[in-house]
Order: sequence, then C-alpha cells, then structure tokens
Amino acid sequence: MRMVDVIQKKRNGQKLTDSEIRFFVEEYTAGTIPDYQAAALMMAIYFKGMSADETAVLTEAMAASGDTIDLSAIEGHIVDKHSTGGVGDKITFITGPLVASVGVPVAKMSGRGLGHTGGTLDKLESISGFHIEMSKEEFISNVNKHKLSVAGQTGNLAPADKKLYALRDVTGTVDSIPLIAGSIMSKKLASGADSIVLDVKTGSGAFMKTLEESKALAQEMVNIGNKLGRNTIAVISDMNQPLGYEVGNANEIKEAAEVLQGKKVEDLRNLGLELAAHMTVLAGAFPSYQEAYQVLEQKLDNGEAFQAFRTFISAQGGDLSMIDDLSRLPAAAHHVEVISDKEGFVAEIDAESIGVAAMYLGAGRATKDDKINHAVGITLNKKIGDAIKKGETIAVLHSEQPNPSDSLSKVKEAYKVSEDKPNKHQLIYEVIK
Ligand code: URA
Repeated sequence: MRMVDVIQKKRNGQKLTDSEIRFFVEEYTAGTIPDYQAAALMMAIYFKGMSADETAVLTEAMAASGDTIDLSAIEGHIVDKHSTGGVGDKITFITGPLVASVGVPVAKMSGRGLGHTGGTLDKLESISGFHIEMSKEEFISNVNKHKLSVAGQTGNLAPADKKLYALRDVTGTVDSIPLIAGSIMSKKLASGADSIVLDVKTGSGAFMKTLEESKALAQEMVNIGNKLGRNTIAVISDMNQPLGYEVGNANEIKEAAEVLQGKKVEDLRNLGLELAAHMTVLAGAFPSYQEAYQVLEQKLDNGEAFQAFRTFISAQGGDLSMIDDLSRLPAAAHHVEVISDKEGFVAEIDAESIGVAAMYLGAGRATKDDKINHAVGITLNKKIGDAIKKGETIAVLHSEQPNPSDSLSKVKEAYKVSEDKPNKHQLIYEVIK
C-alpha cells in the first residue's frame, strides 16, 4: 500500500477502507510515513470528512497504536471527564476533587495545550515539583489511595494520537469532527475508564463554533464510546467567553483553588458541579442527578473537595505551600492594563482571541516545540453583561514584556461593547446520552 494513494483517495472524497486507515495509523506511529504525508491526509480529512465507520476504525487503530491501560486493579467504577478544549477551562481541577470527595475514583489522562486552548498538564506544572510522568503502578496506587490522579499521555498511550495531535496543532487541522472525536476517544479507550463524561464546548472559543457542529461532535463521540463498551455521555457547554476570569497556567490553578475554597465564580462552580454530578451518577454513587448535585454542593461548600485537591497535588509531588498561599505561584514581571475606550455593556468576548492573546504572552504553544511560560496570562475584569465605563480596566495582562502590544490589541479586539445590556448565554445547552 502506498500512502500517496490513500491521500489522493481521501482528497477525492472517497471512503477509506479499514485496512487503509490501519495502515496509515500503524506506519505513521512506526515512523515510516513522514509528517508531510500525514499532514496532507489530515488536511484531506479536514475538507472531505469521514463516515461514522471510518471514524470508529481510526479511533480503534489509534487506541491500539500503543499500550492500553488495564485499570482493573482500581477499586470501584472509574469515571473520566474530558473537555474538547476551551479557553480558561480549569474545570478538571474542580470536578476531579469533587468526584474524589465522594469516593468515586477518577483516573485521568490529560494532554497539553493545543492551539488557542490551554492544557491540563501545562497548568498543573505551574506548581513546583508536580509531576505527571509516572509508572502505571504509581498511577493505580494514587487512584486507590486518593481517588484522583492525573497522568500525562506519557510513554506509549495512543502514540498515534500523540504524534497527530502535535502535527494537527501546527497544520490548521484541529477543528475537524472525525479528527477530534478520534483523538479524544482513542485516549479514553486506551486509558481504561469504565465511564466517560465529555464536556463538549460550543461557541467562539471552542473548536466547534456552532451548536449544530458541537452536537454532531458530541453524538459521534457518544456513539464511539458506547459502541466500544464505555458508558459515555456528553454535556454541551458554553464557550462564547472564557470560563471564569483567569486564563493562563498559574492563573487558572489559582482560580480553581479559589473556587474550591468557596469563591462563587458562577460559571466555574455551576459547570464543575454539573459535570461532577453526571460522573458520580454514571459511577452508580447516587441514584439521581439531583441527589448527586446536592451532596457535591455540600462537599464544595464544606471544604472537603478542596482537601481532596490538596491531597492530589501533594501525592504527585506538588509544592502545597503554593496552594495554601496562592501568591507563591509563578508570577509575571509586568501587569499591563487593557483600558476601555467605550462605555456600555460587554456584549461579546471572543474567547479564541483571548486564547491567542494568552498564547502570544507565552502561555500556549504556537509551534509544537515551544516552551510554555507558566507565569503569564490574562485576568478578565469584565464578562458578558457587565457594565463598563470609558477608561475602566477591562483586563490585565500578566506579561514578561513591559509592552505586549500584540496581546493588548488582541484582547481589545475580543471585547465588543454595546449600548444595551445583552442577554447572557446559557451555560449548559444539552446532555447527549
Ligand atoms: N482534545 C483532544 O484530545 N484532541 C483534539 O483533537 C482536540 C481536543
């Protein structure tokens, strides 16, 4: 089989056979197909799509491209949560400890930042000493002891996706339904959870900008999960503005810790509870969503979820003094204010532009080998619906440069101010089972 024929076939809009898909995944993982041919196929898939059957074969082949983790040594029904990627999305740091606080094991494999979205691993590494590379035995023992562990997609877990994920990031082929579905579900299948809750983002900061596309992605992933024996549901949630007020690595750890300590950041708190409630119901810990929600809310308010977060951070080597005193987290040299030149109400915040502005500051990667700066980021002072005066600070850039002009103009551009107070976006649109 020749890779060029596979590329041409997809370029011409034809369906690939199971063996062609497997050939590509196996040979690309083995290094015999070069990046430029893989990139060409990704672009052909981006434009021509894949059928549900092709996507399922791609997913299975990527899951089988390396080790599959057997988590049967973990006691209890293991649940995982995965977000399709957004801006300011630090929900894992809220749902993980919440679910762990009611005794349901969370064994999470996470990725690094992709495009304008941040990555869970990069954020956790803002905490000195925190390690995400661990042996399978350590991972299992952490989950058994503390009910929560987050590991990097290290070693040999879905290596095909690891290579493709990095390649897509720099070739403009991220926002494709079959590629995202295959990427996410291959990792989920290989990483062994019994049940999966997908947080599918929709809106300006999501890879899928419209509700229709997001629903299609959610449905595709739910079908793959259920077909391949995992109890899977998807929650479609809003990404028309960043989640919470903080964007960047250390910034997001700080905000998540504050929410776990009782700070009422409405969207973070509500989405965290919503996802945690679905996770615990799927795990059989509660008979109904309502009961789960009520108990989880208590765990958040009485500090038990925060204690579960501290335990998790310290079990993976993280310096707890940075959590107990959040001012010890990495901080940037300069704080540059973005000033409004209009008066009215914030009508829109283009989340993708905020993500790109954070990437320009160094919080994300423009190319796959870029190094992350954990200290830089953006604090939004205003969210959709907030009143704003001329001369008021809209946002603060945490920057290593005194004049980060590219980021500054990107943040300014992201904000649309209107005379009338706009309607707020819904936070949760739909649950797909
Ligand atoms: N998250 C993933 O794991 N893969 C994608 O392709 C997009 C978001």
